[in-house]
Amino acid sequence: MMERLLHVDGVSVRFGGLVALDKVSVKIARGSIHAVIGPNGAGKSTLLNVVTGLYRASEGDVTFEGQTLSGRAPHLITREGIARTFQNTELFGEMTALDNVVVALDRRYACSGINAALHDGRWRASETAARREARELLDLVGLSEDEDEAAAALPFGKQRRLEIARALATQPKLLLLDEPAAGLRAAEIEALNRVLLDLRASRGLTILVIDHVMALVMAISDRISVLNFGRKIAEGIPEEVRASPEVIEAYLGKKAAHAFSA
Ligand SMILES: Nc1ncnc2c1ncn2[C@@H]1O[C@H](COP(=O)(O)OP(=O)(O)O)[C@@H](O)[C@H]1O
Ligand SMILES: [Mg+2]
Repeated sequence: MMERLLHVDGVSVRFGGLVALDKVSVKIARGSIHAVIGPNGAGKSTLLNVVTGLYRASEGDVTFEGQTLSGRAPHLITREGIARTFQNTELFGEMTALDNVVVALDRRYACSGINAALHDGRWRASETAARREARELLDLVGLSEDEDEAAAALPFGKQRRLEIARALATQPKLLLLDEPAAGLRAAEIEALNRVLLDLRASRGLTILVIDHVMALVMAISDRISVLNFGRKIAEGIPEEVRASPEVIEAYLGKKAAHAFSA
């Protein structure tokens, strides 16, 4: 049996009268790529927001490596080893790709403002180390050639991978991705898939990915959980989910069954 890294255990989230998540349980095995799919409004982003401490569960618990995360502030959850990207990109558009990653590394390489203001030896050493690590992270996501480009000038597919490099700066064990393939062309999705598979293979990273894009989800996921109206309606390996008439009906509607054959 695979070791469990994250356990979302009977979690409900309410916004006034709306039940965004209704007693949802999901177990994520260490070293796996686990997808959560479902139509708009199903509760997918809410699930990530509970795991990362942005939203509070009204019932249930989230445990990471056996420790509860409930009630912990987002920055403390990051420190435990959970990093994420957001549904809308959060890059500094006018800064270079390299500097975007250096900024994300800053907390680990921080030295005092005085050192930085004087540009003294300690500052230069930590700056050099940060830039070296930033280049390694850009290389991991296939952006070595793009380090001097302004983030905003990169095509969408590369911006998404730059966000992943930024998320990796905190040295996570678990990476959460909210719709990384949305709006990407087929070639960009393939590049993203390769990066995610490489990260799992080279760093043993565990990945929880939310997406609608079947070309990503079906190609790289070990397991898929399906949400609909805040409830988990199915779970299994991609073949099982793809074949489930209940999922096709509930998730995509009768007319859209072909979407699963991607
Ligand atoms: N901060 C919030 N305040 C009120 N309602 C919210 C909030 N976040 C999400 N919701 C509602 O919860 C439901 C699930 O939203 P969300 O998790 O964003 O869905 P998904 O990511 O699957 O599209 C939706 O009905 C949404 O409007
Ligand atoms: Mg969402």
